[in-house]
Amino acid sequence: MFLYNAKGTTYLSIVLLILVSGIFNSQSTLAANSPKSSDSRSQAHELGRKIYNFRCYYCHGYSGDARTLSSHFLTPPPRDFTRLQADTPSRENMIASVRDGHPDTAMAGFENILNIREIALVVDFVRNEFILHKNENTRYHTAENGWPNHERYRAAFAFATGKIALDERPETLSAEQIKGRQLFLDTCITCHDRANVHDEGPAWEASAVSFPRNNTSFSYPQVDDISEASVYARHEIAPVLTSPNEMEKRGEQLFQDNCAFCHGADGTGKNWIGSFLEPRPRDLTDPEIMKGMTLQRLRRAIEDGLIDTSMPAWRDVLKKKEIDALIAYIHTAFHPLPGYEKE
Ligand code: HEC
Ligand code: HEC
Ligand code: HEC
Repeated sequence: MFLYNAKGTTYLSIVLLILVSGIFNSQSTLAANSPKSSDSRSQAHELGRKIYNFRCYYCHGYSGDARTLSSHFLTPPPRDFTRLQADTPSRENMIASVRDGHPDTAMAGFENILNIREIALVVDFVRNEFILHKNENTRYHTAENGWPNHERYRAAFAFATGKIALDERPETLSAEQIKGRQLFLDTCITCHDRANVHDEGPAWEASAVSFPRNNTSFSYPQVDDISEASVYARHEIAPVLTSPNEMEKRGEQLFQDNCAFCHGADGTGKNWIGSFLEPRPRDLTDPEIMKGMTLQRLRRAIEDGLIDTSMPAWRDVLKKKEIDALIAYIHTAFHPLPGYEKE
């Protein structure tokens, strides 16, 4: 029988404790310095769990294995408690770690947040739960937490827990596992990040929403080819023109300075800002969408803007020559205009 929630596990252990408390008493625990009744010990353990699940899990993981998103960003990463041996570090050293923190790491001291009893409780919890017994702690996807029947996503579990790497060669996966991998990439990765990959690939660098523009330079991180993370960043790469003429170069500059903010450097409108506008900035590269586009219509749209949308009128902002240059650029970089003659 499986028990999916922490509460159920607690009830079960209380029942077990009453029934077989003799066995539990004889079991060595890392926590106990002085003999205590098993009831108060399990109460202390539950208090430690509470503190842990509130203060520590988001770095060290609910299961103490540090498989958290923050582990990808922090150097040094949070300690994986499941890999620590029972004798190192000592209880005293761990208490000192939690009280004082580790300088120059994300492990901050909890001296001002937890009292010394609470620090001892959470350290004992970590030692008993993860280091000694390698327990699972709290399951996250329980009905109580708002995840009824999470079992139906079982095919994706191995990818969430990292048992199967996301970039495992597809020919070694079963049809079921390939489905599970897709499900994971589609819906679970937002929270789970990449649980496990063989080849880390280009690091997933976090970039601010309001990234630098105009005169500041910024090189975009390569898009992560496994998770396709940073889906917006890849639309901030302008197409490379082979031998552009002066007018197209001028148009490119104008487009990237004035239009890319909404339409994306690649003209698709699938960039960060573009994704929030309604209606969306026109995808200037999509042949279907641009089917009826003519030179006259393009010029009119740029000069007058589009009513009831965020597409501004550029007539009083740009000179006619500049609009000519933009048209030349759009023609060459995004969508060829019928009958348009290059100068
Ligand atoms: C809203 C965020 C979120 C989403 C979406 C999400 N998970 Fe989780 N999942 C978590 C957290 C948080 C944990 C606990 C992590 C830990 O142990 O540190 C977790 C744990 C798990 C575990 C370990 C067992 C458990 O219940 O704690 C499995 C298996 C799992 N997730 C599978 C999935 C699958 C499959 C999907 C997609 C169908 C998914 N998750 C989507 C946040 C999420
Ligand atoms: C913001 C992230 C973060 C949080 C929150 C956090 N830790 Fe840590 N923890 C770390 C990092 C990073 C390290 C590794 C430091 C190093 O390598 O020197 C660490 C190390 C430790 C160590 C040292 C283990 C050893 O081998 O010496 C202990 C013990 C510890 N954490 C316990 C806790 C407890 C208990 C909590 C909650 C009260 C907690 N941590 C909360 C990031 C965090
Ligand atoms: C503030 C956001 C914004 C900026 C800046 C912007 N556009 Fe637009 N643009 C839009 C939106 C939104 C639409 C789509 C409206 C719709 O779908 O009805 C659009 C549509 C267009 C169209 C399609 C016109 C048509 O008739 O179908 C063209 C061409 C165009 N923009 C070119 C440009 C050029 C060139 C620039 C720079 C000089 C520019 N845009 C700057 C938001 C913007």
